[in-house]
Amino acid sequence: MSNNTEHKCECAEAYLDIERIIEQNRGNRGALVQVLHYVQERLGYVPKDIQVKIAETLGVSLTEVYGVITFYSLFREKPRGKYIISSCQGTACYVRGAPDVLERLEKELGITAGDTTDDGLFTIEVVRCLGACGLAPVMTVNEDTHGRVTQDKVPAILDLYRKKEEAETVHVAGS
Ligand code: FES
Repeated sequence: MSNNTEHKCECAEAYLDIERIIEQNRGNRGALVQVLHYVQERLGYVPKDIQVKIAETLGVSLTEVYGVITFYSLFREKPRGKYIISSCQGTACYVRGAPDVLERLEKELGITAGDTTDDGLFTIEVVRCLGACGLAPVMTVNEDTHGRVTQDKVPAILDLYRKKEEAETVHVAGS
């Protein structure tokens, strides 16, 4: 039976393709990474129920599937947010207060690094150098670079994107 209806994603076609690829690899334990890679590419993450299906069909344990997902940083268990916040914790940023910035980000958003807010808006990631050490501490939000960030500036930076989101929502509703 298909699990498509459990997903918010509207791309039913992607799920059908994924189910087909999993089925094609029935009993093929060696195809685990390849199949996970396919799912990650199609959906941007590997949902829990797909992990179960992969384990059952390929004949590997769920622990093994989970182990591969957590070992390779390219695999994700959750969809990423619309705004990806990269908090640099490289040396230059670290010594200039990046841990405080990260702590404030986590507090303001109610999530920890690596997680996504429930509304799907923000994901916090930790990176080791954004190549802008002269602006330390640095964080990026998608393509935008924010330099010399202090923890007190964090709420205002987040508000920028919340307002942007509100403006887009109003625009869509009014169009
Ligand atoms: S260490 Fe943060 S930008 Fe280089």
